[in-house]
Amino acid sequence: MIIKKKQNSLIVASAVAFPLFFSSLSANAVNLDALRQLGEQVFWDKISNPPRMACVTCHDPRAGWTGPHSQTNLTQVAITGANPHTIGNRKPPSNAYASFTPLFEEGVVGPPSGVRGGAFWDGRAKGDIPAGSTADPNKIGDEVFAETADPDGLKAVYGRLRGPTAVQALGPFVNPVEQNKADRAGVCRHVQKAQYAPLFEQAWTIPITCDDAHVDVNFKRIAVAIAAFQDSGKVNSFSSRRDQALANDPDKKFPLDGLTEQENLGHDPFYTVKIGGNIISGPAPNGKGANCVVCHNSGRSPFGPNPSDGTEPNQLYTDFSYHNIGTPPNPA
Ligand code: HEC
Ligand code: HEC
Repeated sequence: MIIKKKQNSLIVASAVAFPLFFSSLSANAVNLDALRQLGEQVFWDKISNPPRMACVTCHDPRAGWTGPHSQTNLTQVAITGANPHTIGNRKPPSNAYASFTPLFEEGVVGPPSGVRGGAFWDGRAKGDIPAGSTADPNKIGDEVFAETADPDGLKAVYGRLRGPTAVQALGPFVNPVEQNKADRAGVCRHVQKAQYAPLFEQAWTIPITCDDAHVDVNFKRIAVAIAAFQDSGKVNSFSSRRDQALANDPDKKFPLDGLTEQENLGHDPFYTVKIGGNIISGPAPNGKGANCVVCHNSGRSPFGPNPSDGTEPNQLYTDFSYHNIGTPPNPA
């Protein structure tokens, strides 16, 4: 955070909103820290028309990176756009751990739907990374590395960040029911004029330009920066009570010392699979299995030879698949 003599409340407020660290960053060609910081600044910046909405408006860390308004969450669920006469039609999913979402796939063995991955509730931000460069405005290929000082070096470190999360980030700025910017050029010029614009050059080795030939590629570079932030420990903290208890437990086995008796008790049915009256896997407390691990598990399959017992680090509690669980429509 910038420590300044208090001049007026406006300056103090903007220093709080935009903690800038870029002066301390080195000028290496590949600078993942600068890329993440650029993404973080953009995430918090009200790049919208009118200028009252940022990504964080709908994905707030204080509410688990989803919509923070209790009344909205209890009723309409979808959040009013930057233009107050508009409203989206879905609830914002959490941004935490979204960067682990794999590429969209169909015909997957395992989940009953046979479908897995992709960002958004319906997986439509598929995130497949084209081989080589692409002119497709909705895919991110090698064009983002072209014209930089070190295309191969940048690709080696930033390349994997071009999946579903980055592709998703191409959407909200220009979506009329979200941030409602008229076009990508407007977003580009906003970042070009922002206090944090030097981070763009530190991350990509070239300054941001918004002429017709560069606006699309630089917009994609901003999306990759947002994905880099979302991929960082600031968004994916792995700090739940279970994570902490597991990390601190001497033998890393349930029951964990750091959990209450009730919490440890809940673990057993969660990780026990019972189908047609038969226990398939898990600790089987009193012969009961709640089957939660079948869907809420990113670790070892409960049907494999060494089923998950809930002790894998970085457990995401999702199989990234699509299950019909019979939730009724929300008429509000
Ligand atoms: C007006 C509220 C709103 C704003 C602003 C907004 N989002 Fe979202 N976000 C949503 C909604 C709603 C969805 C789900 C849309 C769908 O499934 O069709 C979503 C989905 C996502 C997802 C997919 C998560 C997943 O697990 O599938 C990510 C990532 C995301 N937003 C990031 C961002 C970023 C980055 C920005 C800023 C550039 C942003 N959002 C701005 C409402 C918003
Ligand atoms: C057939 C697959 C399946 C099984 C089995 C299952 N769930 Fe779920 N669960 C889902 C789906 C799908 C959702 C909805 C995800 C969403 O809309 O965010 C969900 C949502 C949830 C949520 C809300 C998560 C959130 O972020 O809002 C919780 C908590 C949860 N399940 C717990 C459980 C528990 C506990 C069990 C075992 C008793 C269980 N689930 C069994 C598929 C399953």
